[in-house]
Amino acid sequence: MSEALLHLDGVSKVFPIAGGKSVKAVDRVSFDVEENRICVLLGPSGCGKSTILRMIAGLEDPSDGAVTLHGKPVVGPARDRGMVFQAYTSFDWLSVRRNVEFGMKVNGVPHAERRDRAAHFIDLVGLTKFAEAYPSQLSGGMRQRVAIARTLANGPELLLMDEPFGALDAETRWHMQELMIDIARQENTTMVIVTHDIEEAIFLADKIIFLSSHPGRLKEVIVPEFKHGSRINDKEHIVQLPGYAEMEQKIMRLMREEGSRE
Ligand SMILES: Nc1ncnc2c1ncn2[C@@H]1O[C@H](COP(=O)(O)OP(=O)(O)OP(=O)(O)O)[C@@H](O)[C@H]1O
Ligand SMILES: [Mg+2]
Repeated sequence: MSEALLHLDGVSKVFPIAGGKSVKAVDRVSFDVEENRICVLLGPSGCGKSTILRMIAGLEDPSDGAVTLHGKPVVGPARDRGMVFQAYTSFDWLSVRRNVEFGMKVNGVPHAERRDRAAHFIDLVGLTKFAEAYPSQLSGGMRQRVAIARTLANGPELLLMDEPFGALDAETRWHMQELMIDIARQENTTMVIVTHDIEEAIFLADKIIFLSSHPGRLKEVIVPEFKHGSRINDKEHIVQLPGYAEMEQKIMRLMREEGSRE
């Protein structure tokens, strides 16, 4: 039995569609995510990345195969998995601090502990000065940092992110990627991040799960060996490392192959 935190074993998903027909979105995908690692799901649009993430979150059931966390089957959403979506999902009528405290309040965390934890995670995402501001007073990148702080404050074992920086401009996106590396290091958070951005995948990932185009099948597991097991919190640095360009080209080739199959 694998010691991975998360294990997908032959996971498939078939969606019923109009006229009694069905569409296979995900086809027998298996992979592991080890504790404290960042795993990136990468592949062309429509290959089933969000569907896989939603099955890990428990928002969809697999049609076949199993998703297990610590060896136990995932059944429905639970606090051990926190999800950050592409769209900003903060509560506009609550301050940053109250947004971050919200889940803890619902879960009955005592007031003082809630305050302390919220302050810690607001600081982690660099928003201490804005703790009493409202989301409408923040930029897109700052709002996404609120969502990340709010999700982490609930203490999930697994942080799931679906194209979390897709709506951000290039520079903000780059800062957010560096922030995620810092968070992973400081909080020992295990993450599964969906993206179709090759550079983002190589920068963030300890392991890339590359999926083929529709229906999503596991095409290749790619480990960025050129990082030698370390995480590099500096974009300028990583792109200059020997092996970076080759990895980028390899993944571009895979993407192109998949694109031409559509
Ligand atoms: N609820 C649903 N009902 C029917 N078909 C669905 C449903 N959700 C997803 N699909 C189909 O499953 C396939 C995979 O969709 P999914 O959203 O997982 O892809 P994706 O890799 O996340 O794409 P993108 O990069 O564009 O976000 C698509 O063909 C999609 O149309
Ligand atoms: Mg998607």
